[in-house]
Amino acid sequence: MVRGPGVAFPPSFREVALSLSAHSAKLVAHPVGRLQGRVRAPGDKSASHRALMLGALALGETTVSGLLEGEDVLATAAALRALGAKVTHERETGLWRVRGFGVGGGREPADVLELGNSGTSARLLAGILASHPFTSVMTGDASLRRRPMRRVIEPLSRMGARFEGREGGRLPLAIVGTDEMVPIDYRLPVASAQVKSAILLAGLNTAGETTVIEPEATRDHPERMLRHFGAEVRVAPADGGGKRITVVGWPELLGRDIVVAGDSSSAAFAVVAAAIRPGSDITVENVGINPLRAGLYQTLRDMGADIAFENEREIGGEPVADLHVKGGVLKGVDVPVERAPSMIDEYPILAIAAACAEGTTRMLGLAELRAKESDRLASVSAGLLANGVKHEMGAADLVVHGTGSAPAGGGLVATHLDHRIAMSFLVLGLAAREAVAIDDGSPIETSFPGFAQLMNGLGARIGPEIEAA
Ligand code: S3P
Repeated sequence: MVRGPGVAFPPSFREVALSLSAHSAKLVAHPVGRLQGRVRAPGDKSASHRALMLGALALGETTVSGLLEGEDVLATAAALRALGAKVTHERETGLWRVRGFGVGGGREPADVLELGNSGTSARLLAGILASHPFTSVMTGDASLRRRPMRRVIEPLSRMGARFEGREGGRLPLAIVGTDEMVPIDYRLPVASAQVKSAILLAGLNTAGETTVIEPEATRDHPERMLRHFGAEVRVAPADGGGKRITVVGWPELLGRDIVVAGDSSSAAFAVVAAAIRPGSDITVENVGINPLRAGLYQTLRDMGADIAFENEREIGGEPVADLHVKGGVLKGVDVPVERAPSMIDEYPILAIAAACAEGTTRMLGLAELRAKESDRLASVSAGLLANGVKHEMGAADLVVHGTGSAPAGGGLVATHLDHRIAMSFLVLGLAAREAVAIDDGSPIETSFPGFAQLMNGLGARIGPEIEAA
């Protein structure tokens, strides 16, 4: 359950602070009063990966503005370059340009594809690599090498590709692709937009129609963006419930101009920080509010949070709003289990909101959290324990008992190479009685470069420095 020294018996903040050095990857968040100001959410990670990948599979030039320049997306850019796409960044305008190789036109990479911490890169690229007639090898950091890949290996093998990986189909993984893939009708065994995307991407270089049956709706960025690039994608009700998503093979995709909206999963950290600090008043601009991603905001409203969607508009085919948040005292709720796919990345930060709320919050149906950048149920539970928050963790659920007053804090949290664990517990530190430290802030770079600066601009106190008590 709990790994690493000092977690079962959390060290005091002073002990933690004294062990910090200016160059350490450790970060500390100090308790603050209210947060105030306006910030802009960084680009959406899911849309950024897909814009680059579809740009590579298109002919002609794709431009992308608002791209998330986090390590995960940069790993995708590097892999696409290795496959023959020209991916460049214009410093003056911030615009990214992709000159694609077209469906089926990629070349064998000369070296192993190093994907760092990025599960989205690995799973989606598997679909592209499987449907090209060459052999490639993907690897990643210790977190990515632990993550399950069978979920994409299984359907892509049925289509005709071959895979050689470590036990359990983990990275490093060799993929022997083919351009003679056969179309499948595949029912997703887990609610996963990554698996759906991998199959649809493979379906692009497959003759005929490839169908994914999705019993529970997951984020629909792949469908929206495939259509935007000119692919034929049909969505129909599936027998027994859910959706049948069909892509027609061998389309001619054409380069497009893409504007990436802000990431609702990243915005969530500032939104929760403000919602749990009474008197706060912040606006996070340019946040994607696609209903298949926005489950957290509904849940926070159920908890009594004051969150207004202002200036609602459409950007790049996605609904977007400026989120105006006022702080107060939240109440515990039961989160409907069917909401999980629309907020799957937000349970760590919801657990922080729950720790500060009055009453019990029950979060169920969370088995998938164990397959994220870390075992997120275990990481959240250990972090709550280290900071004096009463809770129970089950195999697939988490129940957090808030008291309505500030949690004790003062703990050191192990982030296990997981950006969302890192950011969530820094938010806890803003609202706790004593500062909260995380052992490693470096994973934040994967999805939210500049997180600490952005939060500090709102009045947070996050940094590596030792501050006098
Ligand atoms: C993502 C889908 C989700 C999510 C991940 C990004 C995507 O994963 O957790 O951060 O971009 O498709 P699953 O598909 O495994 O649920």
